[in-house]
Amino acid sequence: MDIKEQLEQIKKNALDMLNSDSDLESIRVKFLGKKGELTAVLRSMGQVSPEDRPLVGKHVNEVREAIEQAIENKKSSFMEKAMQAKLKAETIDVTEPGKKPEIGHRHPIAQTEEMLVDIFVGMGFSVVEGPEIEYDYYNFEALNLPKNHPARDTQDTFYITDNILLRSQTSPVQVRTMENTKPPIRIISPGRVYRADPADATHSPIFHQMEGLVVDKGITMGDLKGVLELFAKKVFGENTKIRFRPHHFPFTEPSAEVDVSCWECGGKGCRVCKGEGWVEILGAGMVHPFVLRNCGIDPDVYSGFAFGMGIERIALSRFGIDDLRLFYENDERFLKQF
Ligand code: DAH
Repeated sequence: MDIKEQLEQIKKNALDMLNSDSDLESIRVKFLGKKGELTAVLRSMGQVSPEDRPLVGKHVNEVREAIEQAIENKKSSFMEKAMQAKLKAETIDVTEPGKKPEIGHRHPIAQTEEMLVDIFVGMGFSVVEGPEIEYDYYNFEALNLPKNHPARDTQDTFYITDNILLRSQTSPVQVRTMENTKPPIRIISPGRVYRADPADATHSPIFHQMEGLVVDKGITMGDLKGVLELFAKKVFGENTKIRFRPHHFPFTEPSAEVDVSCWECGGKGCRVCKGEGWVEILGAGMVHPFVLRNCGIDPDVYSGFAFGMGIERIALSRFGIDDLRLFYENDERFLKQF
């Protein structure tokens, strides 16, 4: 075989291989590499006569270029194919329905709190919050519940030290507010409270209350009744009546427990009101002169009323739920219903 035929053969072999084998790099090495077939031909140029050398050199270059070109072509066709495959794999079907994000909603306790706050804000009250970790002084002492007072028993709570505790009621916010603000005062204070009660259908070691306090010159029990009546109608319906039953709270005098006519039966007596026709919803009264004085307000000039209600109790009635624990279990199947 002369060198011309040899070159043509190399070219043919290379092109044939490119058609059947996809390992382009090893083909390049085999034919064009340092120890490749074409390089071997170049090395044997010594045997070519000097006049033929330019021609053979030219031929070698043509073959090299042809092979290089063929490899390049193959490479771009591979890349094109890969791109097509990728595009095909990554097509987006814009007509496919999207993934719907799960949107939650306010917890029924939070919803109830919001509703209560709205009602009182509508009557001109402002919202004040207080700490959940509270001094014994604010939770009890200043509210006319000295150490060893028997009424503390019903509000046993969690103690951090002898003088620091988790507040058992929102009433300490009354004291903090009166210490800091001159009358007229018209506030509500919703928030979390704690008691050392085991959880059952009607008790929970953590629950929520909302406190109300009004202090000004000439405030009477009539004002208290008017405010609570409006509140009861807004929450339980226009035909709702309220009734005051005498009670004892150390921080109010006189004190009352306040009932609303049963929202279920309208007062005739049913399962919800246990045949009573009335349901107790809150405690209230006229702020005790001792409490006013403890907070630096002169009880001979000013008077006030206060009330406190359990938010859970209102939520239970509003949503017709019979077990408090459901509010805290965080079972979505329950929460989704409200
Ligand atoms: N703090 C009382 C409780 O937890 C509720 C209460 C009763 C609050 C009468 C008041 C009030 O402000 O005047 O049982």
